[in-house]
Amino acid sequence: MDIRTLQDEIIRLKKEKDICILAHSYQKHEIIEVADFTGDSFMLSRKAADVDAKTVIMCGVRFMAETVKLLSPEKKVFLSARDADCPMAQQASINAVSALKKKHPGYAVVAYINTTTKLKTICDVCVTSSSAVKIVRNMPQKDIIFVPDINLGTYVKEQVPEKNIVLFNGGCPVHQRLTAFDAKRMKQLHPGALLLVHPECPKEVTDLADYTGSTSGIMKFAEESDAKEFIIGTENRIGEHLRYICPEKRFYPLSKDCVCHNMQLTTLADVYDIITSGSGEEIVLDPDTAEKASVCIDEMLRLG
Ligand code: 13P
Ligand code: SF4
Repeated sequence: MDIRTLQDEIIRLKKEKDICILAHSYQKHEIIEVADFTGDSFMLSRKAADVDAKTVIMCGVRFMAETVKLLSPEKKVFLSARDADCPMAQQASINAVSALKKKHPGYAVVAYINTTTKLKTICDVCVTSSSAVKIVRNMPQKDIIFVPDINLGTYVKEQVPEKNIVLFNGGCPVHQRLTAFDAKRMKQLHPGALLLVHPECPKEVTDLADYTGSTSGIMKFAEESDAKEFIIGTENRIGEHLRYICPEKRFYPLSKDCVCHNMQLTTLADVYDIITSGSGEEIVLDPDTAEKASVCIDEMLRLG
């Protein structure tokens, strides 16, 4: 089967079988084309809470599929590729965060959604990159522990200076690779281009950016901007998708190394196999863990 035939079959079968395909914007373009909804983590969480279909295939990484299951426990939820995990989600262990809570009694714990379901059970509210500033600002508590991304946490701290935020020393291994050297070199090569970056980038990079925001934020900014050239400081698929959306504009990767291999694991064949044979991994969560973890996801949707 060629790509086009496989896509047509997936689109025909998902309708026939009442299956909804959600795809994070870092997915391959051929996956984006068969998805019912695409977007950043926050947009996908909102969609997951609303979709009617009985089965959802989450094309992304494990914490995203688990978030869908937390929001829709009655649905069958599949992770598109069994090994697709976010390494940052493994960084904050229950022990490490419990120790921080002990050291800072009375502090509220804000967990980036890129965390395990188990960790979410001891946190107060989840945030995504697009909702973090708003949620932290809206929280009644002044004293906050932010886990695990030190770069997103630093960015939030700058935007919400009235809060007292303690950071955890974690981060995204993909965005951590981006440097001020890359940013300056690319700006020199493309002097007319705007630099758009994700808040998971180190501060030395966000400091040089013309815009900092989530994957959907970056795409929206590029679509709506009058500028014609952009340097993209996040997973390189975003630049590829933008070329289709705005063919008259030019997009340059901030670094050719900004590739999330976990996000790129999912293939069309994986999606086809889940639809036709139910292979792939169905997300099953321990009910007690799920109930406790849902509290901070619900709180995220309420405050965000
Ligand atoms: P978004 O919130 O922009 O979807 O980011 C998720 C993510 O994992 C970025 O690396
Ligand atoms: Fe995780 Fe980074 Fe990949 Fe996002 S880009 S899924 S934070 S490893």
